[in-house]
Formats: sequence, C-alpha cells, structure tokens
Amino acid sequence: MDRLPLYDLDGRTALVTGANRGIGLEIARGLVRAGARTLLLCRDAGRGAEAARELSAEGGGEVVLVPCDLSDIAAVEATAVALLSDEDGIDVLVHNAGVYPQDRELTDQGVERTFAVDVLGPWLLTHRLVPLLRSAAELRGHARIVQLAGIYHLRGTLDLDDLHFADRAYDAATANAQAQLARVVLARAWARGLFPDDIRVNAVHPGPVLTDALQDAPWLARVAAHTVARPAFHSPEQGAAPVLRLCCDADLHVTGAFYRRDELHAGHEASYDLQLAEQLWEALEAMVEHPDRQPLGMHSW
Ligand SMILES: NC(=O)c1ccc[n+]([C@@H]2O[C@H](COP(=O)([O-])OP(=O)(O)OC[C@H]3O[C@@H](n4cnc5c(N)ncnc54)[C@H](OP(=O)(O)O)[C@@H]3O)[C@@H](O)[C@H]2O)c1
Repeated sequence: MDRLPLYDLDGRTALVTGANRGIGLEIARGLVRAGARTLLLCRDAGRGAEAARELSAEGGGEVVLVPCDLSDIAAVEATAVALLSDEDGIDVLVHNAGVYPQDRELTDQGVERTFAVDVLGPWLLTHRLVPLLRSAAELRGHARIVQLAGIYHLRGTLDLDDLHFADRAYDAATANAQAQLARVVLARAWARGLFPDDIRVNAVHPGPVLTDALQDAPWLARVAAHTVARPAFHSPEQGAAPVLRLCCDADLHVTGAFYRRDELHAGHEASYDLQLAEQLWEALEAMVEHPDRQPLGMHSW
C-alpha cells in the first residue's frame, strides 16, 4: 500500500470530529504524525480517551481529547465556549463525524439524527469557531476546513419543507444522501460567502471505505462488504489520504471545491445554487434559535 506523504504541521492546531475510529482516527493519526496539536472531538469520552492514548503513544503532535456529542446543540455550544477560551487558533478543522441510522430517530431538539450529526452540529461548531479559524489564518496565512461528503450526494435532494422526514417515509439512504448534499452545499457557501480569502473550505469523498459505519446496515450488505465486494473498498488509512492532502498540502490553494478522492469533481448541480444555500442556512438558523442563544450573525453573501 502507498505510504502517506509526510506533511509538516508543526506549530499548528487541528480539530477532527469523530476521531476515535474509522476514517476519522486515521485522519487524526496523519495530523499527529505531521506534528499538529490535534484535538479529537469524540462523542464518547471513554472511546475518545482510548484513541488519544493510542495516538499519543506513537509520538508527533500533542493529542487532546474534546468530548462532545454533535447531535446535542447545547453540547456543541459548550464545547465551542471551552475551545474559544483554551485555544489561540485552529488551523485545520475536519468535519468527519457521521451516522447512518437505519430507522428515523429524532434528537431532543427534534432534528433527524443523520442531519443533526452530519450537518447541524458541524455547521454550528464552525460558526462558533470562526474567531479561532480567523486568528490561525491571520497568524499563519490561511486556515482550512475539510468536509467529508459522499459521492452519493449526487442522488440527494434537499427537502427544505421536510428535512426531518416528518411527512415522508424515512429511508436511511435518502436521509444520508440529503445530509451529504447539504454538506457540499454548505462547503461551497462557506467558501463563497463567509470565508472568501484566507480560510479554504473543500469537501471530499474518501471513496468507499470499509469501516464500522456498515455495522447498522442490513446483514446482506455487511456480508457482501466483507466478502465479494471487499476488493472495491479502501482501508480507513487509504480513505484518510485525500482528506489529509486537503488539510496539509501547502501547495493547495483551492477553495469551494468537491473532490472525489484526489480528483476535482463537479458535484451536484444543486450545490452551486445560491438560493438553495440561503434557504438551507435559514432552516439551520431556525433549528438553533433560542431566546438565550447569541445570534450567529454570520450571514453574508
Ligand atoms: N465509509 C465510507 O465509505 C464513506 C464514504 C463517503 C463518506 N463517508 C463519510 O466519512 C465520515 C466517516 O465515515 P466512517 O466510515 O469512518 O464512519 P464510522 O466508522 O462510522 O465513524 C463515525 C465517527 O463519527 C462519530 N460520531 C457519530 N455520532 C457522533 C456524534 N453525535 N457526535 C460526535 N461524533 C459522532 C463516531 O463516534 P462513536 O464511535 O462514538 O460512534 C465515529 O467516531 C462520515 O461523515 C461519512 O459520511 C464515508
């Protein structure tokens, strides 16, 4: 197997969500190896601590555990407050955490769980962390946001009237494709509207990667993935490679792009639709609206 190129992120800080297993663990490993102080945002403190121990033992950049459930708006807010007080800057933010629930589940705030973990939590976290991204960009020239996003967003539609599947039958693949499309729409919108210059935002499909994400899939799909279909899958380390390139490659100046692994890909036509991006943004704002919550105040394009 190809070895990952060696990157240099000495003196930089990176945050990876869902860093305790799968592709996220390998992204974090690559960042730690590159010398970055690496914050592992993990839903479960125990599993996160195990990953932190494993990565720390390998040497490289400092590893810091940040326990946070991205499906919980209050937890995301509290995590952002702690990060704003503890960190001077965030150079690299990787939105990797994701779920694939087979049945419709709602969070305590009434948000469909795929959408909550894949879209709403990362969106809110990004906006709360803007001061840290900007300060890293001011100090070191640029910061980067990398959004994991499946190629199957091409099959997705954003049903803005029913993002949570209240009025249509829930189906895991449809919920996933919708969330993946929302990720690409937001990555392009951030690049265009909020971070036009010094913060580069790109979305990337890591390829089909054999991870525990399949553990909730129907048994036939699980068996096939581990037998006849096995050659079609990448390892988690191979899945992390194109993500790490977008995080670390000093010669990469692209922003607002969607990559299928290392190849630029046009992505879904809808991901260029400014009006759709604005409507999605409004829907997200409405989901976090609360009288005690500071308005996000970032809407500008
Ligand atoms: N695998 C693929 O073929 C593929 C293809 C295209 C795109 N992707 C995208 O790549 C990303 C990683 O995929 P993967 O296959 O590595 O997934 P995975 O093995 O299932 O890992 C998902 C990670 O997300 C974390 N997570 C789940 N819910 C969370 C929450 N509420 N708060 C914080 N963290 C949470 C999990 O933590 P726990 O251990 O606590 O559950 C785990 O660390 C996903 O966003 C996925 O959509 C994957």
